[in-house]
Amino acid sequence: MHSRWTDYRIFWREFRRTYHSTGAISPSGKPLAQALTHFVRHGLNTGCPRRILEVGPGTGAVTVAIAEALRPADQLDLVELNDRFVERLRKRLAEDPRLAPVASRTELIHGDLRDLPHDRHYDVIVSGLPMNNFSVDLVENLLDVLRQHLAPGGMLSFFEYIAIRRFKAFLSLSAGRQRLRGIDRVLNTMLDRHQIRRDRILPNIPPAWVHHVQFS
Ligand SMILES: C[S@@+](CC[C@H](N)C(=O)[O-])C[C@H]1O[C@@H](n2cnc3c(N)ncnc32)[C@H](O)[C@@H]1O
Repeated sequence: MHSRWTDYRIFWREFRRTYHSTGAISPSGKPLAQALTHFVRHGLNTGCPRRILEVGPGTGAVTVAIAEALRPADQLDLVELNDRFVERLRKRLAEDPRLAPVASRTELIHGDLRDLPHDRHYDVIVSGLPMNNFSVDLVENLLDVLRQHLAPGGMLSFFEYIAIRRFKAFLSLSAGRQRLRGIDRVLNTMLDRHQIRRDRILPNIPPAWVHHVQFS
């Protein structure tokens, strides 16, 4: 039986233990997970099986929404850096009635997105990466890597908490403020060119923007 409280407990512990890569105090709520998976649910049905990648699935809050939207022959890859989250996901894929039905079509990769084999291309990528915790160079690098893994016409959906960079910048010293301004510049330049849709999700703690991006 899957317990949401166990997920919250694991998340909180990992937030304190690995703040830099976890970047959130709790798993995403259902409305956020639904918005992030918009293009898994409503993507063009060409009749061909799709390859879907989730980056940073954590305890699987968004993975469940992806699993519910998978079409019969679709394949799902999950790439997760954190060993405790990987352990939790492995258990849920084996036991959770919402994930077990897609376990045979799901590959759980324990590692860094940047080490994913270059020849894997996806029709939809859903990312939970906490970009605001990273250096400007790393954000640029991760965006390049995400872009390289998209198949032609593929969609990237990711979220960020509303006004969080401005709020963090307000509380930061000069170097931190500069880093956050750099991230703002990199993300907004990319979004100005490639964003095709944006959803505002107020019923989430904290409220979030979901960005949907198409590079080609
Ligand atoms: C903000 S949490 C999102 C968790 C989950 N998607 C959710 O919405 O509840 C960020 C996740 O990204 C993972 N992560 C951070 N950097 C990563 C990387 N370079 N490669 C793969 N996963 C990464 C963290 O371990 C964590 O699970």
